[in-house]
Amino acid sequence: TTCVKELFTHIIDEERHTSVKVTVVGTGQVGMASAFAMLTQGVISELALVDMVADKLKGEMLDLQHGQAFLRTVKVQASTDYSVTAGSKICVVTAGARQNLGETRLQLVQKNVAIFKHIIPNLIKYSPNCILIIVSNPVDILTYVAWKISGLPRNQVIGSGTMLDSSRFRFILSERIGIAPKSVHGYIIGEHGDSSVAVWSSVNIAGTRLKDIHPHTGDPDDPENWNEIHKEVVNSAYEIIKLKGYTSWAIGVMISTLCNAILKNQKVIYSLSTLAKGYHGIEEEVFLSLPCVVGEKGVGAVFDQKLLPNEMEKVKASAKTLHDVIKSLEL
Ligand code: NAI
Ligand code: 2OP
Repeated sequence: TTCVKELFTHIIDEERHTSVKVTVVGTGQVGMASAFAMLTQGVISELALVDMVADKLKGEMLDLQHGQAFLRTVKVQASTDYSVTAGSKICVVTAGARQNLGETRLQLVQKNVAIFKHIIPNLIKYSPNCILIIVSNPVDILTYVAWKISGLPRNQVIGSGTMLDSSRFRFILSERIGIAPKSVHGYIIGEHGDSSVAVWSSVNIAGTRLKDIHPHTGDPDDPENWNEIHKEVVNSAYEIIKLKGYTSWAIGVMISTLCNAILKNQKVIYSLSTLAKGYHGIEEEVFLSLPCVVGEKGVGAVFDQKLLPNEMEKVKASAKTLHDVIKSLEL
């Protein structure tokens, strides 16, 4: 250290005042894909990792730190103690059980609610005004649970929801049409998973709706079978879990993109899980995905998407499915 002291004449006392700190709880496949995407996309200046498994945490922290010479500098810390998360702008929760082969997302509920009762109060203790992004499944139920436990206003509790399903939808559509996914516009709303709803009435390319060209697009009796694409979206996670055991890369880049939109106050619209009571005739207090305007306060507004009557019925059915699960929870 004597040599280091001789290298510089310090003119100020350096104290680190980072404003862009994000915590990731759960350093499994999803947590680490999200963390890695945030580092490589230059979204954050400070990262805190929390898990229950101390060795895994330390290993992941060192591995990320060793890539720093090739990235923008980010202070990476990791601990089983939540004090490491203090002062986070965003806390991303990816901890908990994931689906085994053939298991549905809703079947994970009891295990993961118990875990949330521990995690959420600890995050709020050290970052009382953070934005919570919930990723663990079943994500819509756990976002509701996090909202209840945290006491945060609704705009600050966001579920990753069908932002991933929408991205899968746009990719599969883009393959069929032969253009880039970014140039195909369409939303999946409702439950992230089995009862999700494809909003075929608004799928468009350069502002031209597919339904105006081919009115049966998305209908069950459509001779062109566009609705198969939605079935493929619903089946995506099951297929990937069968093939590689978990899903990680798409959700990782998605979480990084979402954090970026919040930290840079971008006002982008994404399908995200939000308190849905009052929209499209939903009467239950449930979280499910609707197009949300995302900025520095989290979900600043919900976009009033025009739905066809049959689409609205499907969203209401999705709300009912989720509410039936919520009713059975002990919080
Ligand atoms: P994983 O098993 O690889 O990682 C889970 C991590 O959580 C493990 O490191 C474990 O030690 C940790 N953990 C468990 N209990 C904890 C606690 N009380 N405190 C802190 N850490 C704890 O699982 P993976 O694949 O990363 O999936 C995580 C979750 O994300 C699952 O529920 C999965 O279904 C969900 N998921 C959600 C997606 C979405 O679009 N919403 C996409 C992909 C996965
Ligand atoms: C996914 O859709 C399993 O929810 C996870 O990839």
